[in-house]
Amino acid sequence: MAENTSAKLSTAPYKGVRDFYPRERFFFNYLTDIMRAGAESFGYEEYSASVLEPTELYAGKTSEEILREQTYTFTDRGGRSVTLRPEMTPTAARMVAARRRELSFPLRWYSLPNCFRYERPQKGRLREHWQLNCDLFGVAGVAGDAEILHLAHHLLQCYGAREDQFVIRVNHRALLHEALAALAREAGERLTPAREAAVLRTMDRRDKMAPDAYLKALEAAAGKALADAVHSRFTPEAAPAFCSALPSYSQLEALMGYLKQLGVGNARHDPFLVRGFDYYTGMVFEVYDTAEENPRALFGGGRYDRLLEMFGTEPIPAVGFGMGDVRIRDFLETHHLMPAYSSPTDLFVATVGAEMHLTAMQVAQHLREEGLNVAVNLTDRKVGAQIRRAADRAIPWVLVVGEEERTHAVYPLKHLPTGREYSLPLSAVAETILSLGK
Ligand code: HAM
Repeated sequence: MAENTSAKLSTAPYKGVRDFYPRERFFFNYLTDIMRAGAESFGYEEYSASVLEPTELYAGKTSEEILREQTYTFTDRGGRSVTLRPEMTPTAARMVAARRRELSFPLRWYSLPNCFRYERPQKGRLREHWQLNCDLFGVAGVAGDAEILHLAHHLLQCYGAREDQFVIRVNHRALLHEALAALAREAGERLTPAREAAVLRTMDRRDKMAPDAYLKALEAAAGKALADAVHSRFTPEAAPAFCSALPSYSQLEALMGYLKQLGVGNARHDPFLVRGFDYYTGMVFEVYDTAEENPRALFGGGRYDRLLEMFGTEPIPAVGFGMGDVRIRDFLETHHLMPAYSSPTDLFVATVGAEMHLTAMQVAQHLREEGLNVAVNLTDRKVGAQIRRAADRAIPWVLVVGEEERTHAVYPLKHLPTGREYSLPLSAVAETILSLGK
């Protein structure tokens, strides 16, 4: 006999991607059901697309870091370069640009794609995550920014979060531009677009760097004179006053006015907030957990009025955000806002002996037709063991079918969480369960 010498295949998933066993899937569905309902409550319509995109879609305007270091890119059999989407915004922009003449603006679109980034897996950062994307196309003004922030705030409230548990940090790319231009003038330097982008990228990472390293990175991005000006004048203490004297500050003030009137009480100006994507042109925001043990941005977005130009079309104003499932779950767990697991099955039909399987299947079908989700025992375990299995799976109700029950047409029904027992004709079972609930 030939010996099987091959090593056993690993059961682990590919590093950083997600298997969802049923319990995990329950929690995932909880998160995404609220995302869907929240987006739809603001009039957003769902769209979706393939996970595969031509690599060139990301070459122009997204984040250099993502493109250089984090995309899954391969060459297909026809020699074309293909990328697994690391984010949804370029796809949404492509789809809107492709049908811009037929679509009637403004568009309110949402999607729940999985996205892939080649990252070092750690808390809050995986190689595959699902991301609610809500985007508003065709509204240029501050009211559009306000709607997107209002929706972001609303979603967290739908999860049961209070305003003191999260903060919405808001900034404006025009304000950053004006601040850097003013500092460059003071330093006697010219602010080229490339230099500006390099400084913004450095400022975006400021939180993650020691002060010396930050200054060094600024010097590398902007030259010594501008780096010194940014470092000495654009400090956490001085930046708010510095920004409030700039022309674009009025846009931020108008936005804050809207938010206040809409009941969003936890939005704050953060003069250092940049966000990593090059396509943002206006308002940018990030939502943070106020609990220190969960320091990463929960989600974020902003306005990108010029991204659609890369398809050679007239500009279409756009604003939106991406909210990842992993960090929302961390946030909800931190604040004890995740629900307990609850089974999708209402009732387990236990059987006394294998000869009752067919009767139990018929009883179950009758109850399904009355609106219950019902699983049937098909093993030869003893009734007690069957009930323990049902309890392990968090099924709340158990009905026992045996010869005697069949003869008398009366069935014992037990509610496992309370231990309460009932003896009922089949016609009363569904009504009892539906009225008493889980
Ligand atoms: P982003 O900030 O790169 O923005 O991602 C949005 C959110 O997706 C993050 O705040 C986080 O919740 C989640 N996320 C991103 N990467 C990971 C990861 N490796 N592991 C777990 N979660 C992650 C965007 O992608 C923009 N396209 C959002 C946008 C939509 N802007 C306008 N419209």
